[in-house]
Amino acid sequence: MLRVSVQRLRPGTMLARTLYDAKGNVLLRANVPLTAGYIESLVHRGFPAVYIRDRDTDDVDIPELVSQQVRVEAHATVQQVFTVARQAITEAIGGKEKPTDHKGNGPSENGQKSKEQFQQIENIVKEILRELVSSNMLSGIAEIRSYDDRTFSHSIEVAVTAIMIGKRLYMSESDLIKLGSGCMLHDIGKLFIEQDIYKREDVLSTQEYRRLRGHTVLGYKFLRNRNPNNVLANHVAFQHHERQDGKGYPRGLRGTNTYRRRRSRKTEQYILPFAEIAAVADVHDMLSSDRPEKPSLAPQQIATIMREMSGTLLNAEIVQHFLSILPMFPVGIGIAVQNGFYRGYRGIVVRSNRRYPDRPIIRLLYDEAHERVAPVELDLSYEADIQIITIQEP
Ligand SMILES: [Fe+2]
Repeated sequence: MLRVSVQRLRPGTMLARTLYDAKGNVLLRANVPLTAGYIESLVHRGFPAVYIRDRDTDDVDIPELVSQQVRVEAHATVQQVFTVARQAITEAIGGKEKPTDHKGNGPSENGQKSKEQFQQIENIVKEILRELVSSNMLSGIAEIRSYDDRTFSHSIEVAVTAIMIGKRLYMSESDLIKLGSGCMLHDIGKLFIEQDIYKREDVLSTQEYRRLRGHTVLGYKFLRNRNPNNVLANHVAFQHHERQDGKGYPRGLRGTNTYRRRRSRKTEQYILPFAEIAAVADVHDMLSSDRPEKPSLAPQQIATIMREMSGTLLNAEIVQHFLSILPMFPVGIGIAVQNGFYRGYRGIVVRSNRRYPDRPIIRLLYDEAHERVAPVELDLSYEADIQIITIQEP
């Protein structure tokens, strides 16, 4: 299979993976020829790229960390929680209670409902965990998501990445569940903020920015009230925008830039490790997500930016662990040859090399004039001179 941008689709092409809409309904099935109308609707729905069937790469299976099925389930669960929360907030605003007043929102019918929803969040995190048990590397390839489901898929991606980092840090299962649940709900406070503020891509006014920053406190107070037992998970919402240098928000807490050697310190002055892991996963998702106006960055670019952020913004030790599970040349990623006989040829990574992660096995599919050629497979651990770079698509 190949990952190509929707602009390159032609009628007759077949998807290699079934596509779902934001509600988990099948949008387009795999192995059905696309029509011009289908292609147009994919563009319209804001899908940046899709996986297609391709004769020369059909043997290449781009691995999924979490199955489509669990992802769809997780999506529906997060959506439900957000819907119940939104109702509660609207009621509170319409009625006597202030939405930000954590004492005001007593257990109502909605309170009961949201308790059940939080349980469901934990259940879905357990399912994700089960699927991640045997993986120790991140996928390194942006998850395909449509425009309308960005908020929810962001929550899921952050949870998956955070759990993978937590696994790398040998966290206990119960901690991983708390961490994952916290990440699923880390941005729930955005429900209190006008959509146009947090969805806008251009510069915000000082006042709007202050409103946006408030999502941390509002989210935390809301969760603390609805779900008081899950203290650590709730603090992920509270602290995920704090920075190591103390210049973050809402409280300007500091970090220690370490993970293991922190136990002796007075913890209340410092950012909790859960929130520091969530911050790393949050930034990673921001950089790696594919949008029509801003394509995802390649793992190397992500690594460079995150290294720059480490120490001041992100916890340095956690970033280091994160980078150790981010593959630089994941299977399926586009590559271009930089030198030698095949200079200018493009293709994809078809296998990784365990012993030499920087020298994967590649398959070239296009020549320097971008004409399709008979596939050429090269094991870069034997072709020491060949230099490659990753590209958006071959
Ligand atoms: Fe946030």
